[in-house]
Amino acid sequence: MPHYRSIVILTGAGLSAESGLSTFRDANGIWAKYDWRDVATPQGFEKNPALVHEFYNMRRRAHAGVKPNAAHLALGRLSREHEATTIVTQNVDCLHEAAGTARLIHMHGEAMKSLCAHCNARGPWIGDMSVATVCSACGKAGGMRPDVVWFGEMPYHMETIGKLLLACDLFISIGTSGHVYPAAGFVAAAADAGAHTVELNLEPSQGASLFAEAIYGPATEVVPAYVERLLAGEA
Ligand code: OAD
Repeated sequence: MPHYRSIVILTGAGLSAESGLSTFRDANGIWAKYDWRDVATPQGFEKNPALVHEFYNMRRRAHAGVKPNAAHLALGRLSREHEATTIVTQNVDCLHEAAGTARLIHMHGEAMKSLCAHCNARGPWIGDMSVATVCSACGKAGGMRPDVVWFGEMPYHMETIGKLLLACDLFISIGTSGHVYPAAGFVAAAADAGAHTVELNLEPSQGASLFAEAIYGPATEVVPAYVERLLAGEA
């Protein structure tokens, strides 16, 4: 068993890369093809909702066909075997769920869920969405959007995450470039609270110097190996 009492794990797009989903800031990443201002802000949605729907329809279709990789599965196992482990993901895919994760927080929302701007109803969403889509709760069209957090909006569950960071004694960041706040600030909050901090990533992230320990390599290699050591009480 891990000798840590309470573990918080932050995950980003790099975790799902080997499942076949694009990251954002790598050379072939999503932000090399799309301007985030157009497709991931409330202003972009107001200006051209059809383009934003097209972007998330494309991403939803990509998410539909993928499977959790060895890193998701190892984290799922850790969360089941060590009760005080919470995974906080910036990813809007459902690969942590598919890996049987016990305690999961989607701080940037979920692409496979809908949110109605008229009545705030949320629900599962599998197919495409358009400006003509009607909300099944209030019956109005024109307000349906993916239940994801855009730049300029407040990420979800920040109060709960803040409490978990204050109480954890191990913070692990996996597959995230450390460019986007508030997630990029979690390492400093956890370290201030006395936690050991570990980065598992393909390469040093923007905030690499803030971590006490770092292991670099593909997630499907470094994450299962680290989880194995952690569960054996050796990490
Ligand atoms: P990024 O694309 O910014 O960073 C992905 C990180 O994963 C990079 O540091 C890569 O080096 C690393 N990486 C790539 N392949 C990997 C692999 N196989 N194994 C391990 N690491 C790998 O993605 P995020 O940090 O998740 O928000 O981006 C954060 C937020 O910015 C996203 O949630 C999204 C985006 O804009 C919104 O859209 C609001």
